[in-house]
Order: sequence, then C-alpha cells, then structure tokens
Amino acid sequence: MKKIIAANWKNNGDKKFIKNYFEYFSKNLNNTNKNEIIFFPPDLYMDQVDKYKKQSNFRLGGQTLNTAGSDSDGSDLVLTSGTSSEMYIDNGCSYILIGHSEIRQFSNFLIDGPKMDRGLTESETIILALQGSDSLQVIFCVGENEDDKNAGDTHTILSEQLDDLCYLKVKPKKFIVAYEPVWAIGSGKIPTLEDISFIHRFIKSSILEKLSSLKEKDIMVLYGGSVNLKNAKDILCAPHVDGVLIGGASLKVKEFTSICNLKI
Ligand code: 13P
Repeated sequence: MKKIIAANWKNNGDKKFIKNYFEYFSKNLNNTNKNEIIFFPPDLYMDQVDKYKKQSNFRLGGQTLNTAGSDSDGSDLVLTSGTSSEMYIDNGCSYILIGHSEIRQFSNFLIDGPKMDRGLTESETIILALQGSDSLQVIFCVGENEDDKNAGDTHTILSEQLDDLCYLKVKPKKFIVAYEPVWAIGSGKIPTLEDISFIHRFIKSSILEKLSSLKEKDIMVLYGGSVNLKNAKDILCAPHVDGVLIGGASLKVKEFTSICNLKI
C-alpha cells in the first residue's frame, strides 16, 4: 500500500538551502513505490518550495493553523500574524498539520486577548481547515509525554486527544493521524517496533469505536519521532504503519531522499 513520507521542516531553511535541497532532491528522487511525499516548510518559504513541486512530484502542507473564520460568538476573528486555510490553499497546500506537540504546548498563548482568553482548541483548528470548498487534508498529531508514558497513561491520553478529531460536525475526507510520542521527538529514542504497531492498531480501533460508520481503509496512522535512514525501513514495514513524519532527518537532503527511495 502507498505510504506517506512527510518532511516537517519546522522553523528551518532559507532560500539558499531550498535551492540546494531541491537541486539534489529532484535529480535523485526515484520513488518507484509512488509513495506520497509531503513537505511542510515554514510558511514564509512555501512559495519557494512550491516551485519544485511539479518537477519532483510532492505535495505541500502547512505546519499549523492559528486563525480565520469567526470567534465563538460568531463575530469575525481578526488576528495579527494569523494564517488562514484559504491562504494555505492559495499557496498550493493540500495538507495541514494540527495538534503537533510543539504547538499544543503554546496553544493557550497563541490567541489571547480581550475577546478570547484561551487558544483555539484542536477541534476548532480542524474545523477551520475543513471550511471552504476546497478543504485541506488534516494530519492530526497525537502523542503522550514521558510522564504519561511512565504513569501507564498512554492509551488514555491518546483516546482523549482523538476525541477532538472524532466528535466534529464536519468530518475530514480521510482520517490521518500522526502518532508522535513527545519523548521521541528529537531525542534519538524510539518506541520498539512492537509498541509502534500496537499503538497504531489502538489508534485505528479507537477511531473506529468512536465513529462506527468509518472503515479501517479510511484511516491512516503515521509514526513520527527520531525517524532516520537507519530505522525508517523497519518502521515503514511494521504492521499498521502507513507512513512517517520526519523532523530533523528531513533537513538532510541525502538522508531524506534515501528514505523516499527505500524499497518498501
Ligand atoms: P524528529 O524527527 O526530529 O524527531 O521530529 C519529529 C517531528 O516532530 C515531526 O513532526
């Protein structure tokens, strides 16, 4: 089955980096598996990366949504620094990351002021992404932190986080979840392959339990957290893994191209 191989560049890159990156990537990509490759560059460089999209056949995505639409009382929400789903679509994006742990930790801080004393919830950002005629495909990030894991609370935390994705009036076309244990992000540590498979299976069953009308084929679960060339093939081949979301290693063009070229 076609897998997703996604590069989350976070707040990295500049024009020179992008030029050098795609000169190499376009020449050396040999994606015989026809996997879906997605780049999530910083918003300011979306346009620079978009230029290489056709040549290398990848998709583009935004790293978060923080505004658009209306406040809870129905009035327009105006936000300096806001980026709307329409802007992402206008700039060639078809995906959006929602609920990344690096954003969740600041979500009460992003929108704060006299009209709102809280951040947008994950459910609200999903609805913003789905609004409009040509909606973005949400990749919804979940994951436990080290304390949750040590306390044996991983399943409870994941199930609570998945409620935000499942109990919405509008439903995404496809349910794509990225399982990113917070303790594995940027740490060089990853769960065992058995644990990854087990948790991905749990995420799929949990969504199916909450939304009985869905079919398993409508759900994809990606793994993220310290994926690199050494472990990518094993992770991608593990049962119930439908792709990977890569941070640090996606900035190293040779390494990321080799991951895209893996025979899975
Ligand atoms: P690393 O691959 O650097 O651990 O980052 C993972 C991540 O946060 C992807 O969204």
